[in-house]
This record gives sequence, C-alpha cells and structure tokens, in this order.
Amino acid sequence: MVRAVGALARSGGKAHVALNITNRCNQRCVFCFEGDRRGWKEPGLGQVKRLLRDAARTSGHVVFMGAEALLRPDILEVLRFGRSLDLELTAFTNGQVLAREGFVEQLAEAGLRNLDVSFHYADPESFARGTRTSARNFDRLLRGLAHVRNHNRQRPDRALHVAVETELFSLNRGRLSGIRRLLERALGASFTSHRLGTLSPAPDEVCEEPLLEPLAVRRRELVRFLETQPPERRTALCKMPLCLAPGWEHLSMDLHHKLDRLRVRCNFRDREVLAAMHDFAADFAANPYRWVCSDCNLLPICRTERTRWGSRSFGPTREQKPIPETVRSLEEVLARASGGQARPVEQIETARRLWRGIPAPEKHFARWLGSLRMGGLRVKEVACGEHPAFDVWVLASGRRLRLRLSPLETPANPSRSYLLHYLSASVVEPLAPPESLVKTALARLAAAAWPPLESWVGYAALDSTLAAAGLAVWRRWGRRVWPGEEAAPGWTSRRLQPAGGSFRLTVEHRSGRLADALLRSQPRGGRGPLG
Ligand SMILES: C[S@@+](CC[C@H](N)C(=O)[O-])C[C@H]1O[C@@H](n2cnc3c(N)ncnc32)[C@H](O)[C@@H]1O
Ligand code: SF4
Repeated sequence: MVRAVGALARSGGKAHVALNITNRCNQRCVFCFEGDRRGWKEPGLGQVKRLLRDAARTSGHVVFMGAEALLRPDILEVLRFGRSLDLELTAFTNGQVLAREGFVEQLAEAGLRNLDVSFHYADPESFARGTRTSARNFDRLLRGLAHVRNHNRQRPDRALHVAVETELFSLNRGRLSGIRRLLERALGASFTSHRLGTLSPAPDEVCEEPLLEPLAVRRRELVRFLETQPPERRTALCKMPLCLAPGWEHLSMDLHHKLDRLRVRCNFRDREVLAAMHDFAADFAANPYRWVCSDCNLLPICRTERTRWGSRSFGPTREQKPIPETVRSLEEVLARASGGQARPVEQIETARRLWRGIPAPEKHFARWLGSLRMGGLRVKEVACGEHPAFDVWVLASGRRLRLRLSPLETPANPSRSYLLHYLSASVVEPLAPPESLVKTALARLAAAAWPPLESWVGYAALDSTLAAAGLAVWRRWGRRVWPGEEAAPGWTSRRLQPAGGSFRLTVEHRSGRLADALLRSQPRGGRGPLG
C-alpha cells in the first residue's frame, strides 16, 4: 500500500484571515453554505481596505472568500492594496472567471499568489445539476484551469499556487479518480495540491435532493484514491469525518488546525471560525443531530458536521456513522497527526465530558417521524444506533405485531431520502408468528401507503421466512444478525438472504474475511457459521 501521500504542510501556527468581500456569485451550488446572506451587505472598497489593514496587523495571509470573490469589479484594486501591505493573498474561486482572456495574468500581476479552486464534478451533466448553471460552464472551468497552467509555465516568477478542493457528495460518488484525471490534464504540473472535503449542513435548506451518500462506500473509494495519489502532490482532508478516512487521519487539515490551535478570523457575521478554536462542546449541544458520533473516540478532534436530522438534503444516510475499519484511539490519531510528539489531550477530554449531557437524540428523530403520515400505524419506538431502525405496531387480524424496519443492505435508489430506505422488516414480537399474520400485517403496512408504495422495493425482504430465520439465529447464537450487527465477537453480519426454505447468512470478520453458511430456519444444533 502506498502511504507516501505528500504531507500536509504545517502552517507554523500562523492564522489566516478569511474575508468575505462579496455576495455575488455566478453559480447556485446545491449545497452552498454561503446561501443565505439576507441582511449582509457587500462591503465597499473603503471598508475592504480597512479590513485588509486590520488583517495585516494580526496575520500575514488573507483568503478572499465569497461567495465568488473574483466577481467584485474592483478585485484588482483590492489585490493591489493587499499586496502593498505585504500580505500573502489567496482567492477562493469556483474557477469560472479564470476563463476570461488575460484575467489570470491580471490577477497575478495585481499580487495574487494562491488560488483555491473548487472542482467537484467529473462531467458536464453533474456539473450543471450541482451548480444549477449550464453544462457548458464545465468546459469554461477547464479552460480557466488551462489558463492558469499556461500562465505558470510562462511566468514562473509570478506563478499562482493552485490548491484544488473537492467535496465528496452524492453527485460525484465513484468519480474521484475521473476528477483527478481531468485536473491532471487541465492543470498539468500546476496540480500540486488537492484537498478533499465533505459537505457540512448548510444553515438553510438549499436543495430538495439528498446530498449525502453512504459513507462505507465512500470510504472505500477514498482509501483507493489516497493510495494511488502521487506522493509529490500535497493531499489534505478537510471537513471530513475522521471515520471516513481510517488510517489517513493524519492528513486532516481540521485536526492540524485544532492541534496547532489555529484561529481563522472571518469578517462574515463577525465570527471566528474553524476547527482550531471551534467550541465543539457548545456547538454540539446546540446541534444535537450530531449525536450519531457521540460515542466515537475521535469526536473531540473531528468536525463531524455531516448530518442534520429533518433536512432533506443533509438528512443522514442509512449509514450515519460508519464503524472505522481500524478502530483507533484518540491518542494514536493525535500522535500520528503530530508526527509522533505526545500532545496533551486534557482540553479535548474536558470538552468531550461537557457534551455528554445532551438530551436523548432519539427524541429528535421521533419528533421528525411523528410528523410524517403513518396511515394510522403506531410508531412504537425509535432505535437510533449506528444502524437506525424503528418499530411499528401493526394490528393484523386483531393481533398486534411489532415490526422492526431497518435499512436495506443496498438502497435500491440512493437518491431517495433516508427514510425511504427503511425497507427491510423483521418481526420483533410475537416470536415466530404465523405466516398468515405476517402477511396481513405487511398488507396493512402497504395500505398505509407510507413510505410511498413504489418505494417498497424491499418487499422481498418483508418475508416471514426471513423473519423466522432471523429468530432462529437469534435463539441459536443468542444475538440478532440483521445486517451490520455483530453476530459474534469480531464478526459482523453482512447479509441475510432467503434461500429456498432456508437462508444464507454472510458474515465478515474484522480482518475483512467473509464467511457464509446456509442455515435452516429450524436449526438442529451443530456448529454455526461462525465456528
Ligand atoms: C463557499 S465557496 C466560496 C468560494 C467559491 N465561490 C467556490 O465555490 O469555490 C468555498 C468552498 O466552500 C465549499 N462549500 C460550500 N458549501 C459547502 C457545504 N455546505 N459544506 C462544505 N463545503 C461547502 C465549496 O465547495 C468551496 O470549495
Ligand atoms: S460557487 Fe461557491 S459561493 Fe457560489 S454557490 Fe457555489 S459554493 Fe457557493
């Protein structure tokens, strides 16, 4: 395994100042957290100059944020002024304007030294969907990058250092390598730095469709990507749940910010931002949707802002918090990140204790569920663990049946909202009900038309054979074996499929080894598949 990914440059404890100097933008990205700026007025040139003077007193580095900073008509003047104060200048851009003839040269001449360019898509169609602009702009962006490459070749004395940022989300799932190839072609030798991030919930709902994706799948893609990353390219992870990158946590930019106690000042809403000084205890208390990570030993050093209950676009995927393949201790990760130096973690531990006090997160989920139409079926309880499930009581032939609905192993349609993936059901009570009763119950559930009928693709799994088989395993090995649950120490069940009158249980060992066995619904003793 290639581990030599370019080390994340340590910023030497120097903070930078992020200046939001405009709310203009030429894209309407579906996930954008800059979306709502009601009441925010673009600062005038005089005000920007004051901000720059102020920044020069506290920091040597300014990052111009946007929305799209380069759209300010006076941007060249702003840059020249910043340069006159001896500030290092970076512009964060979606790259569209770089396609204007001669603009890259003008920026460099005015004193810009770094470009942070967002690049999230592997093809024009997803680009158009994600940015809500024309697919033609994808070529425009590639042209802009080519301009930077040409400029850097011709003017090495005024070369622009490019850091590309790619957020992992539903529209680029499985496309990371394609994105890298495009960037290599467009930027050539100027593609020296790549940051990978994930989406944080935008403060206001910006998009109707789910933006998140199953983390386990993404993790495999990410690991493959990191393993094949050229060692000379600087690679960093930002806004990335650490459990998404087991083994690569040391590349986490946020972790470094935190360790280095970096403060990033930002003029927008007058707040100081970034992980470094992030008061995650208070933040966590204010945003209980992040409870899914509450037991994670990496939380204190992780931003974990991935999900927001009740949000369509940032609603958790069926795998809210994946289990790291290699469970690491906080200390181990910190030691890796700080290059082997022992770092005190007391401060982190204190904060960790603080947020333990938040009220039961299930309530939030239950409230959300309660607002949905359940066609008269009674939601009895909500169990939100790593593999969330909820139970419904169904009256069938005058008898009550408790069904546990839980996510399918593979959602049939990943673009559907989270809850619609609760498609596999198991009978919880009574044990081993008559098949006719289960069928009546399922019919009742279907008649409730919730979730919408066409999404009940998990019908095959709503099968009493499977339920009985599950119960049989439960009785035999003393545990339930629904997908994702620990079936025996070190073994996680991956799949339980009906197979004729029996069923096949596939389990995965910690080491990745898979085992499966054909089990009868009514076991007759003997060794189980777990040996
Ligand atoms: C807000 S944009 C501003 C600069 C410029 N307009 C651009 O798109 O690059 C800066 C970065 O924030 C990222 N961003 C926007 N919304 C986000 C979200 N909800 N979660 C995580 N990153 C987000 C974008 O991908 C972009 O890389
Ligand atoms: S280009 Fe940047 S600022 Fe504009 S909508 Fe997209 S992410 Fe937001």
